Amino acid sequence: MNDRELAQALAGAGQGHVLRWWEELTSAQRQKLAGLARQVDLDQVARLAEDVRQGRLKETLSGPIERPAYVALSDGEDLEREANRAAGEALLRAGKAAALTVAGGQGTRLGYDGPKGTYPIGPVTGKSLFRIHAERIQATGRRYGHPLPWYVMTSDTTDAPTRRYFEREDFLGLDRDEVFFFRQGMMPALDRHFKLVMTARDEILMSPNGHGGTLTALADSGALADMERRGIEQISYFQVDNPVVPAADPVFLGAHVRAGAQMSSKAVWKREPEEPIGAFVRSGGRLIVREYSDLTPDEMRQKTPDGRLLYGLGSIAIHVLRVDFVREETAGGLRLPWHLAEKASLVLDEAGRVVAPSGKNVLKFETFIFDALRDTRSSVILEVRREEEFLPVKNAVGKDSAESCRAGMSRLHADWLEKAGVRVPRDAAGQPLHPVEISPLYALDAAEAAAKVTRALRVDGPLYLGPDGVRA
Ligand code: UTP
Repeated sequence: MNDRELAQALAGAGQGHVLRWWEELTSAQRQKLAGLARQVDLDQVARLAEDVRQGRLKETLSGPIERPAYVALSDGEDLEREANRAAGEALLRAGKAAALTVAGGQGTRLGYDGPKGTYPIGPVTGKSLFRIHAERIQATGRRYGHPLPWYVMTSDTTDAPTRRYFEREDFLGLDRDEVFFFRQGMMPALDRHFKLVMTARDEILMSPNGHGGTLTALADSGALADMERRGIEQISYFQVDNPVVPAADPVFLGAHVRAGAQMSSKAVWKREPEEPIGAFVRSGGRLIVREYSDLTPDEMRQKTPDGRLLYGLGSIAIHVLRVDFVREETAGGLRLPWHLAEKASLVLDEAGRVVAPSGKNVLKFETFIFDALRDTRSSVILEVRREEEFLPVKNAVGKDSAESCRAGMSRLHADWLEKAGVRVPRDAAGQPLHPVEISPLYALDAAEAAAKVTRALRVDGPLYLGPDGVRA
């Protein structure tokens, strides 16, 4: 499409304002703007605008809603768990699993200048989220005698700085052939009149198309074909902002494989009914994650006859997906439903001035990976301990902040030391008096830590256990 055709298409779609300043742009600016405008699927924008007008993007559930069956936490080891572990370990030893991290988000709530993956989170070392994941991936590969390939999803927002970071950090100790970056798609934002939003005279407001974009991005980028070539059958999926998530958990992989599931999930019980995480439910024969923002206060507190919350089984964005399931899901392009989010953004006014928002002023569209669960014929939900696997970094302060995450990491690693017989001084609330951090290259879990530390270890200041042992 040349510039003239582009202008006609935009005008025909009622989006001609995008070129309002065209005459005064330099040729580089024109190129940039035209490039962005060509990325916009104008038919899709028109369809989405109509969906919003008709209220069609709101979830309507038909039929009774139930909490789905799930594998509850079991204290100690049981036979089923051990069989799952064995199956998962066999898969890892055979090199049939890969790790996939989604790192394309904009991290607006954290307010950090740079990809969230580069955010310093180690409570003692200040290691970045990416580095902690990389160390765990390396350690997992070593444990099972086969490198664990790592697929990292970026977006236009995070791609270049993420690649630069990996280069600068020498691929964080990983073999660069085992790291595969792929980029998700972008979606334009709309204003309240369903017009494309300008943020500069040569810029249309676009944002990543949500973590559901992982599926099409895997297929379109060649990452999926790369997995197939390597004989990878299962994808261990997690988010970049959770530094304690296992890179590939054999028990989870095994439970999923043994059930013949297409896509599986980990879950925790909600801390409180209002906790802002999605909840697993079954309705109309389908497995659904219902977003907290779609629930009324009454629904949030609704209970089942066993006295537990109907919407209590919370999703923590950890999944396993079969490679051939991703193939099926993407065969005819993106099938996941769009979700609407109202956000606040700087915008350009009609006079070409940048104005700060006085409230939520733009509509953004995203797809969510958990919506693929609706298409599964078989799916496992495995309950896990929140303190061991879910410490997300979402906000600048308060709940789910960097501070709460670091405190949680210290508590978790202090627990590991105590299980090994080490005395760790704590305050009345149970928080270790000094930060404690254990590198995945020292120990991947409590059992490995117990096999390495000596009970005589003293914790009388910040403590870091790295690949070479103790560094206080
Ligand atoms: P969140 O939805 O929590 O968002 O993403 P975020 O982008 O990190 O931060 P906010 O909402 O702007 O404050 C959860 C995970 O999904 C990834 C993020 O990188 C994060 O790991 N994600 C999100 C994507 O990869 N792409 C997206 O389009 C959205």
